[in-house]
Amino acid sequence: MTIQETLERDMTNDRIAEHTSSRHSFRARKFTDFIKKDTADDFEKPEAHICAKDLSVWYREVEAVKKINLGIRKGKVTAIIGPSGCGKSTFLRAINRMNDLIPGCRMTGELKLDGENINSPAVDVVALRQRVGMVFQKPNPFPKYIFDNVAYGPRLLGIRHRGRLMQIVEESLTRAALWDEVKDRLQQNALGLSGGQQQRLCIARALAVNPEILLMDEPASALDPKATLHIENLISELRGDYTIVIVTHNMQQAARVSDYTAFFYEGDLIEYGPTREIFTNPRLKQTEDYITGRFG
Ligand SMILES: Nc1ncnc2c1ncn2[C@@H]1O[C@H](COP(=O)(O)OP(=O)(O)OP(=O)(O)O)[C@@H](O)[C@H]1O
Ligand SMILES: [Mg+2]
Repeated sequence: MTIQETLERDMTNDRIAEHTSSRHSFRARKFTDFIKKDTADDFEKPEAHICAKDLSVWYREVEAVKKINLGIRKGKVTAIIGPSGCGKSTFLRAINRMNDLIPGCRMTGELKLDGENINSPAVDVVALRQRVGMVFQKPNPFPKYIFDNVAYGPRLLGIRHRGRLMQIVEESLTRAALWDEVKDRLQQNALGLSGGQQQRLCIARALAVNPEILLMDEPASALDPKATLHIENLISELRGDYTIVIVTHNMQQAARVSDYTAFFYEGDLIEYGPTREIFTNPRLKQTEDYITGRFG
């Protein structure tokens, strides 16, 4: 076969593949409607800690998260996956109303925490953020002592007793698997820690106010493989005691750490289910294509 013939054959195959995949995605859309109904039925199930019902998040006229229905289980780790710009961070920030800080950003629909709508004007946002802690992609410790970073939240809550603060700091750093590395340098500036240590410090800082939910937006994407493993082990340790929602671009990480996975695409929740099923037997070709690296 000449090079020209090979090229022509490949182009024909590509066209067939394109045609098949566009037919498939048409079917996927229809099927998505069905899945949406299915997950909507999860809404307000007793074990669902966070429930989104027809939740949309808008940046002015742009709907970045589109009428999603999702029940996130208490004490479980839920991974949010999907290509860049599909609304993962926007959804995550909705859960502790961090989007309130963005001018022009608003939510429609419902988002309930333990059955209570967090968008109600009666909700105390400071108290909400105490219940729902957040860890970001880039570790952001305060330029203060390690001790003061962890004691920051408890002090805001009015805890002044030095012994009590020390106890909270030790407990939180231990839970974040950092205590042994920093116990002799609590009065040193947190910015002197390595990136991986800084990220665990941020997790300790979030844990110090005793939250129920921990939101993690790509918490290990700025870390090396060893520090990443540390964070993943930590997530496994925290499972059960906290409801964890983690955004990640790393498919292996999602498969390793999470119990449930939600796949977002262009603001839609495409598929949601137990991680094992999503990764071994996804219902939709769109999900399969994403997790196998065929797009995104
Ligand atoms: N502050 C903002 N103002 C206006 N539009 C925004 C703002 N933040 C995000 N968007 C838009 O909303 C959509 C979703 O963004 P979001 O940051 O939630 O995506 P993402 O899935 O977290 O992406 P990535 O994987 O790149 O972090 C994108 O189209 C983005 O451009
Ligand atoms: Mg993001």
